[in-house]
Amino acid sequence: MPHVPLRSIFLPAMLVLAVSGCSREADPDSPEGMRQAAFKQLLSHSEPMAGMLNGRIDFDPEVFAIHALALDEKADAPWHYFPDPSDSDQPTAARESVWSDADGFSERVEQFRTATSRLAEVARDGIDSPDEVREPLQAVQQACKACHEGYRQ
Ligand code: HEC
Repeated sequence: MPHVPLRSIFLPAMLVLAVSGCSREADPDSPEGMRQAAFKQLLSHSEPMAGMLNGRIDFDPEVFAIHALALDEKADAPWHYFPDPSDSDQPTAARESVWSDADGFSERVEQFRTATSRLAEVARDGIDSPDEVREPLQAVQQACKACHEGYRQ
């Protein structure tokens, strides 16, 4: 058997660790893990809708509506999992401003909830063309972005 230098075995393993980042995953049962999973759920609905409007995915009004309603239904989930972080050692990208500027954060939540419920309303009425949902989806995306800018690292 040819001699395989140990390095060639360890190096790839170390690279994998480096690429996945120093950030270990949060415990799925911790508030951090719960809210991160809830945010991933939001993304799993907003992304296909965005894809349908930018041409990456074929526009299907029924599938769009399913995502719009599911997004609105799940839009309350993350906010239950932001307890005072003082003695948590879980990895998180939430900024200190979530707690130090709780009013501002609540306003962003409100803005987001208003946008998701408006999009859901349009979807419930029946979607005839992509143009009908373009502006309401943009408002949702704006709301995600506005909050991330101020409250996520
Ligand atoms: C009111 C504030 C707010 C809104 C609105 C918001 N987010 Fe976030 N989002 C955060 C914060 C804070 C984090 C960091 C959570 C953590 O790491 O503990 C986050 C994290 C995430 C993550 C990373 C989750 C992970 O795996 O670590 C994704 C994906 C995400 N948000 C998507 C979205 C999408 C998509 C929307 C809109 C449909 C949205 N968010 C709306 C505040 C917000």
